[in-house]
Amino acid sequence: MSNETIRIAIQKSGRLTEKTLQILKQSGLEFNLSNNVLFSQCEAFPVELMLVRDDDIPEYVADGICELGFVGFNVLQEKILKKGQSPDNIPILKHLGYGNCRLSLAISKEEEYTGLNYFNGKKIATSYPKSLGEYFAKNDINAEIIEISGSVEVTPKLKIADAICDIVSSGATLKGNNLKEVDKILDSESILVKTPKELKPEQEQTIDRLLARLEGVMKSQRNKYIMMNADKDSLARIKEILPGVDEPSVMPLAGDDGRVAVHLVCEENVFWETMENLKSVGASSILVLPIEKFIS
Ligand code: PRP
Ligand code: ZN
Repeated sequence: MSNETIRIAIQKSGRLTEKTLQILKQSGLEFNLSNNVLFSQCEAFPVELMLVRDDDIPEYVADGICELGFVGFNVLQEKILKKGQSPDNIPILKHLGYGNCRLSLAISKEEEYTGLNYFNGKKIATSYPKSLGEYFAKNDINAEIIEISGSVEVTPKLKIADAICDIVSSGATLKGNNLKEVDKILDSESILVKTPKELKPEQEQTIDRLLARLEGVMKSQRNKYIMMNADKDSLARIKEILPGVDEPSVMPLAGDDGRVAVHLVCEENVFWETMENLKSVGASSILVLPIEKFIS
């Protein structure tokens, strides 16, 4: 590995894998991941990708085997509680805004839920025993927590447990197993974590470059480019309708003295209502375009 190269851990296969590879690709980092590779070198950027089980990512990053890791906040939280470590041991560099999910308690659809007390004296299967244990302790619930590493959803049917505590994203897994979500323990999303170990200055530079690109990708996904024609004197009203915009570019329209072409970048979501409001202050030919890349 050259001085500037960093190693990044990502989930090998799971909920976050595809989105993580996509955001890396949009940042200019492409990897050849044919035939089940566990390592992959990026050609255009000093990064080596390591594909591992998501549960192992916090440890690899804490130990400095990988400089960075893309992981669910839920996995990080459980690992920190398990090790009894300070969260500073694996600093979070960035919340990535994808992979949103929650850690929730779920019971059979047929059961009547009576509030948190329901869980007193019950057996709960989970891959998150520490997060659940802490939640129950905080709420004075006395339950038996059974640690299971996978397919937690099937345990009620097999009579191994009365209820489960697991990650819910779309809810399809719960539904498919005749379970209903009754209480949320934690909100989670994908995050970028960094090793607490000291790095070479060249590696820090690589991380800064990558962060700027990730920020650019996230920003371009949030922002829209808007073009329209409008009366010269309606600019103030247009800016009122579109909060969070930079100063617009205003260009003359050939053959029309009173009207101008207005181009601007808008951070907010642009809804049909927004466009109708623009029309009502005299804008016409309103175009809303996605932005592919953005550096400010
Ligand atoms: C979680 C969980 C469920 C699934 C829920 O797995 O264990 O299987 O996601 O998603 P849904 O509500 O959209 O059906 P995750 O990928 O977080 O991690 P794991 O495979 O390591 O358990
Ligand atoms: Zn896992």
